[in-house]
Amino acid sequence: MNIAVLGAQWGDEGKGKIVDLLTPHFGVVARYQGGHNAGHTVYVHGKKFVLHLIPSGILHPGVRCVIGNGVVVDPQALFTEIDELARLGIEVGDRLVISEKAHLILPYHRELDVLSEARRGERRIGTTSRGIGPAYEDKIGRRGIRVCDLVDTKALADEVRENVHARNQIIKDNKMDWRAVYERLLADGERMRRWTGDVSLMLAEAMQQGTRILVEGAQGTMLDIDHGTYPFVTSSNASVGGACTGLGIPPKAVHGVLGVAKAYTTRVGEGPLPTELHGEMGERLRESGQEYGASTGRPRRCGWYDAVAVRYAVRVNGIDALALTKLDVLDGLPSIDICTGYAVGSRTLTEFPADLNTVGPCEPVYESWPGWTTPTRGVTRFEDLPVEARRYIARLEEVSGVPMAIVSTGTDRTETIIRRDSIAAQWFPDVSVSAV
Ligand code: IMP
Repeated sequence: MNIAVLGAQWGDEGKGKIVDLLTPHFGVVARYQGGHNAGHTVYVHGKKFVLHLIPSGILHPGVRCVIGNGVVVDPQALFTEIDELARLGIEVGDRLVISEKAHLILPYHRELDVLSEARRGERRIGTTSRGIGPAYEDKIGRRGIRVCDLVDTKALADEVRENVHARNQIIKDNKMDWRAVYERLLADGERMRRWTGDVSLMLAEAMQQGTRILVEGAQGTMLDIDHGTYPFVTSSNASVGGACTGLGIPPKAVHGVLGVAKAYTTRVGEGPLPTELHGEMGERLRESGQEYGASTGRPRRCGWYDAVAVRYAVRVNGIDALALTKLDVLDGLPSIDICTGYAVGSRTLTEFPADLNTVGPCEPVYESWPGWTTPTRGVTRFEDLPVEARRYIARLEEVSGVPMAIVSTGTDRTETIIRRDSIAAQWFPDVSVSAV
């Protein structure tokens, strides 16, 4: 049984911890889109790991990790991550496979990202400045350079010369020397070779042998290029469709979808966030949730749980169940709001609108629920949660339209509730939250 784990909000839902927790039940963890714009933070025995490109499954010995063709790879970022893991005692060895069809992020993509944001001025996206958008632009524009292109040096030289020349017309202040870019790429290709392979074939063979695959999404549904709050989105399909195109697997290979949602909402970068809290409460959530970007350190915008957005993500992805994270961040609040709809004039919308001109004037329609005084931090059994927290979760299940199979009550693997009466018990009959 293969499961996709993906974000049901605007990213940073805590997918890293959930993937890490479930990994012992899988032989392969496969990432299908995005790049090193992602930042998955995992704590193991108090040790902090931040992964950007490599699936967090790498922290488990014996688990193979895949970077699919839908991912854009910055070789320098990849090597930094591999070296950092080695420093922390994790050997990547031959457990990593990078698709030969994955597109590369080159130095001019980063420059173009920064330039494009500067040109947009007030309308900027608030990107991570990692060159993600320009790399995907080149992919769709059929002028991208893929991992497998690093083998034919003559063709590569021509391609790089042409690309750098064209980009230098745009990047006037910081022109690049195509030879330096080319030589760097040759060295990168040399180092990357041992990890390069046919991911689609490898996954098909693994499935044939009965190996379970965990498909890992980055960012979140509301940042999806097609289904998110366009244009304030990332440039890939973070929703479940991206899993098939980004790994070369058929839809029937994904047997279940686990969405991940925070017990409140955050977003980093520009664009609509209907439940955003600007005052003291927003600050309170940011500080107790330590809501600062894992990749860029930027403060995240915080707000109440937006059931309109999560319900939408449930529909788009066919989410079977949710993992609810960061419940403990709400500890001690006198009351907690849930957004169930958006008021626009005399209408109440219950579906997320496509047109941002409609989202702009939306006023969230809130229900207020009593908070709890007993801490939930570290609780591992649902029945040990304060009654108000259980009621809050029950209401979230109703308004989101799916059960909460997993509830995270702290940063560590062990600080988790796995609900035995949920689909999690079918997917992971022997799952345990004990440290691995
Ligand atoms: P880009 O992916 O760097 O092009 O950024 C596009 C938008 O997606 C910006 O609003 C970023 O802040 C947001 N974004 C990209 N990656 C992540 C992530 O991993 N978590 C949360 N937001 C992200």
